[in-house]
Amino acid sequence: MNEKVLEKHDIRVMIPEEDLQEKINELAAQISKDHEGGYVKLICILKGSIFFCCELAKRITVPVMLDFIQVSSYGSGTSSSGNVKIKKDLDESIEGEDVIIVEDIIDSGNTLSKLVPMLQERNPKSLKICTMLSKPDRREVDIDVKYNGFVIPDEFVVGFGLDYDQRYRNLPYIGVLKL
Ligand code: IMP
Ligand code: MG
Repeated sequence: MNEKVLEKHDIRVMIPEEDLQEKINELAAQISKDHEGGYVKLICILKGSIFFCCELAKRITVPVMLDFIQVSSYGSGTSSSGNVKIKKDLDESIEGEDVIIVEDIIDSGNTLSKLVPMLQERNPKSLKICTMLSKPDRREVDIDVKYNGFVIPDEFVVGFGLDYDQRYRNLPYIGVLKL
């Protein structure tokens, strides 16, 4: 048994569930409008983006296709490095498609700065980024984000897919973990 899972942490609500839902409604409405007459392929970056991606997909009114990718970036501690490896690749081609990468949070920007060119090589018709959260104060590389949920300060957050040591992904709100 993993005792660490039962450890208690102090978590303060930063973005309540209702605010997240309202923002996701807005993002989905914008995406639907921008893709009228077509369809979108959402690329969910595992694992953190799955809650956000599902909620978003349910609210988009044009046809939606879903695919999943998992990447690992090797860095020290809580910061990612530019060394990004695909752990689980997409199942299908994205050639000629309108693709939206769905991310939980953009921190340094290193992950997306490596992933975007990798996917661009596969010749999608368009490739855009939708993120639930962004921490611009931590940015090391510029990322062109088309759909942005919340801009947050430089604090470590959990919930709605985001984890601390694989925990707290299932919290229905975004909370700040006090360590
Ligand atoms: P980036 O490459 O530095 O932009 O890192 C992005 C990834 O780091 C996210 O997809 C998350 O998996 C993780 N991450 C960054 N900040 C946080 C946080 O505050 N809580 C949990 N995970 C985070
Ligand atoms: Mg992530």
